[in-house]
Amino acid sequence: MAVTGQILVLFIIIHMIGNSAIYSGGLNAYADRLHSLPLLVWIFRLVMLTMFSLHIVFGIGLYLENRKAKPDEYAIRKDMRATFASKNMVWTGLLTGVFLVYHLLHFTIQIIHPESAALSNSDASGLPDVSGMVVQSFQDAGVSAVYVFAVTALFLHLSHGIQSSFQSTGISSERTLPVIIKTGAITALVLFLGYVSIPVLIYIGLVKG
Ligand code: HEM
Repeated sequence: MAVTGQILVLFIIIHMIGNSAIYSGGLNAYADRLHSLPLLVWIFRLVMLTMFSLHIVFGIGLYLENRKAKPDEYAIRKDMRATFASKNMVWTGLLTGVFLVYHLLHFTIQIIHPESAALSNSDASGLPDVSGMVVQSFQDAGVSAVYVFAVTALFLHLSHGIQSSFQSTGISSERTLPVIIKTGAITALVLFLGYVSIPVLIYIGLVKG
């Protein structure tokens, strides 16, 4: 669970850095460079799909194990250290998974808002207009709201998940635990701001692609 989660976080970091090319006007060139290496893209997709599937299978296993270990709720809950994020890992994970299906249909397969699809709209250099697709999409309040909601669920998932994964792999000790908790929370926050800024800045008109 921890290792698959850490690999997925690596993808989330790289994807955020790639997406930030929208601010410099380089998103179309970046996407075009990626798509010019189809074999690499497909190997990467297969690895990610495997990691994602394993993460879900292990997650469900862990959830069922935890339920079996304490079938009855305590009269007084002794979870003083539990946070909202740690208690809702299954739900924030599920929401992220559902969002991912929507996101792939939207920006990768491009069938949700076909009018702005990069596959059928080119920019001035003749490249598929990924940037135009993203900007047109986030000018819609409903689409932006979906992304803000999903990225918030992802933030909650990562704010507990990152630090918990380092505890599971045995890297943390009593001395390093507070540092790991803080680093996990800061990483989750930076990712949240990096992702949420795109729909928000586009929607309020500060980024036009
Ligand atoms: C504001 C937020 C986001 C934006 C603007 C964005 C943008 C994009 C775009 C433009 C693509 C298509 C790239 C292409 O095929 O040329 C894409 C694909 C993808 N995104 Fe995002 N994304 C966002 C958030 C996320 C999040 C939070 C996740 C994961 C939890 C994610 C996971 C993926 C995946 C797995 C793909 C498919 C990559 C592939 O084609 O193999 N994205 N995203």
